[in-house]
Amino acid sequence: MANRSLILGIETSCDDTSAAVVLNGRTVLSNIISSQDNLHQRFGGIVPEIASRRHLEIINPIIDEAMAKAGVRFSDLDGIAVSYGPGLVGSLLVGVSAAKALAFSLDLPLVGVNHVEGHLYANFLTGATISFPLLCLVVSGGHTNILYLEGHGEIEVLGRTRDDAAGEVFDKIARALELGFPGGPVIDRLAVRGDPSSFSFPRALMGEEGKLDFSFSGVKTAVLNCIRREMEKGKNVDLHNICAAFQASVVDVLVEKCLLAARQKNVKNFLLAGGVAANSELRRRLRQRLEPEKMEVIVPPVELCTDNGAMIAAAGYYRLRRGFTASYDLNAEPSLNLESRRNC
Ligand code: KG4
Ligand code: ZN
Repeated sequence: MANRSLILGIETSCDDTSAAVVLNGRTVLSNIISSQDNLHQRFGGIVPEIASRRHLEIINPIIDEAMAKAGVRFSDLDGIAVSYGPGLVGSLLVGVSAAKALAFSLDLPLVGVNHVEGHLYANFLTGATISFPLLCLVVSGGHTNILYLEGHGEIEVLGRTRDDAAGEVFDKIARALELGFPGGPVIDRLAVRGDPSSFSFPRALMGEEGKLDFSFSGVKTAVLNCIRREMEKGKNVDLHNICAAFQASVVDVLVEKCLLAARQKNVKNFLLAGGVAANSELRRRLRQRLEPEKMEVIVPPVELCTDNGAMIAAAGYYRLRRGFTASYDLNAEPSLNLESRRNC
């Protein structure tokens, strides 16, 4: 690859349409993100057909805007990276089709990126020096994983959720409290002024010695039942307190499992990634628990935690450097696995 490598990254796996231009996998020249939150708000969750239709309407203007903001021409690019799974099939197809069309017409290498791996690469856009082996907690609306990497792309999944993803539970609790969608940011804000010990919610799988899996369906049911009980009693649910107590129960489990993983593996860097990585309490507590263990905790800025094209361009750059390119039969893979051997 040339010394100066410009990658266009395209992300449409869920409800954000994004395109970005990244230099050498490290420097963001542009990162345009169009959120569909206002379209899905009134449904309390993402409606797949609405999401894919909106991606289709705006993908080309978003790509043009990313190129213009970066101040580069299509002929300056060295590759096109696209998130091709996991995600919503109709949404993924829009990005994959746009990426294939561009790669074909510009005669550029095309590279397929696993969306979850993409989240991890947001950390490479922070300017931090990152050394392998490393650990990463990826926690989003669809995933909760503790990953161990010996090198670029050499991913071992040490822990995963056995049921709901952490972000999904934030969204469901917010929906029950009529706080809108997505739920994470608003619960985060309300929790700041609440008392986390005002309610006691379960912390699942904490007792399983050495185990790094998660389970969040128990806490979800407990919080939903608590909201219902308070309403039946005719009480006004104290939003600050219930959000603080719920958030603490999720953050406690995430942080303790990360500490367990850090003690099992000898690494210098612990990375945080995914939409829930924007959570202020998780960021604070992870640092507080891991830094005394002589571990550097790297946390991307909030705008690089949620879905974006820059993280896909960064991950794509490192895949291209290792010689991977996709052929034009690259397809959307809604259930793409992190550990599957991929050569695209
Ligand atoms: O990574 P992402 O943009 O999309 C997926 O790949 O799922 O993550 C979106 C998730 C949503 O569930 C949203 O509620 C959650 O991230 N989220 C947060 C915060 N900001 C976004 N959760 C907790 N605290 C936040 N500040
Ligand atoms: Zn995501």
